[in-house]
Amino acid sequence: MDTDVLIVGGGTIGLAIGFELVRRGTPTTIFEKDRAGRGTSYQAAGMLAPDAEIEFEELELYTFNRESLRRWPDFAKRVEAASGQSVDYRDEGTLIVADDRDAAEALERLYTFQQEQGLNVEWLTGEEAREIEPFVAPRLSAAVFAPADHQVDNRRLVDALRTAFEAEGGTLHEHTPVDAVVPDAEAPAVRTADGERVAGKRIVVAAGVWSRELDGLTPDAQPPVRPVKGQMIQMRRTRPFDLQHVVRGPEAYLAPKSDGRVVMGATSEELGFDTTVTAGGLFDLLEGGWEVVPGIRDLPVDETWAGLRPASRDHAPLLGESAAPGVAMATGHYRHGILLTPITAEEMARLICTGETSEWIEPFSPQRFSLADSPAASA
Ligand code: FAD
Ligand code: GLY
Repeated sequence: MDTDVLIVGGGTIGLAIGFELVRRGTPTTIFEKDRAGRGTSYQAAGMLAPDAEIEFEELELYTFNRESLRRWPDFAKRVEAASGQSVDYRDEGTLIVADDRDAAEALERLYTFQQEQGLNVEWLTGEEAREIEPFVAPRLSAAVFAPADHQVDNRRLVDALRTAFEAEGGTLHEHTPVDAVVPDAEAPAVRTADGERVAGKRIVVAAGVWSRELDGLTPDAQPPVRPVKGQMIQMRRTRPFDLQHVVRGPEAYLAPKSDGRVVMGATSEELGFDTTVTAGGLFDLLEGGWEVVPGIRDLPVDETWAGLRPASRDHAPLLGESAAPGVAMATGHYRHGILLTPITAEEMARLICTGETSEWIEPFSPQRFSLADSPAASA
């Protein structure tokens, strides 16, 4: 097989890295255990929300998220041009709303922090929020408008990425699980479940929440990625309901898509690889969504599911060379994998093509965990 780069995993991350590589003329093959784009990337909400999701202890990640959002419009245009498919990039902005006094206090703390960090956000009364988005609840007293937080349709995105990757000359093997990677500085390889050994010049592990399951990596090279379950409900917009903005309440968020889907999520549960949809999970989401956008009451529900977020120990991704020779990682994107798709793809492609680790991905080296775990570090 004539290929330079072998990517394990065909989600948004593996497909986008592959797309950026083949555009640069690097022969690339993706191995996907099921159908490409039907893992966690299919189960997300598609929000590009660094401002709304900023965390007090994660400012380095915020800067990275923000830079990826800046790159999103150009990336979307490239993928759409190469695939001939829309990714439904929407820039109406996000409303973060409070439904009681405690939530309003928490929102005020968030707003103060956002202002200290220089974010472009606006404090609104309930009335002002309803002028922007008439479908938020009449009883809401306060909101923060984050106009720069956008969204895409992640389901369209993965289908467009797959088409774009193949259109640019990439090779995709679906229903081809990789059992093991075989590290080697000159000719690393993968071993597929049917026993085939395929060698290339570089391997990229982009297997999302399953990245830790691959054989062949020593413990210091294994990515410490664990699943964090998120249950979701999808409704169908029926007039007069016509939500236009992403709305985030204390217990649920709602993301309206241009094809009429209204995606509502999400729980956050540490239950390993369990993907059961539970009555309690759905109840919490319905109650939390209804409190902030009561018009959902009459909408037909057409899908429910549970996805698994690939979380690392510090909630930041693992990007770059691993401790295993010839094996790079692009995994652990946790809550931001759709948002982080452009910067991950561009910076990983740059690393692979030039050998240079950019200042953008340096802080997210997979080896930060290997070093933290070494006896010297704990002495
Ligand atoms: P995946 O999409 O899971 O892709 C990995 C692929 O690897 C899969 O297709 C899998 O089948 C394949 N694979 C695994 N093992 C092997 C193997 N051994 N051999 C071959 N193939 C293999 N992010 C945002 O930015 N915005 C959001 O609004 C958002 N909402 C979310 C809501 C929920 C409920 C969840 C669960 C996540 C959400 N996320 C969101 C996070 C985002 O979905 C993930 O960070 C992102 O999809 C991870 O992409 P990935 O390509 O690494 O993983
Ligand atoms: N980023 C939204 C989620 O993870 O649920």
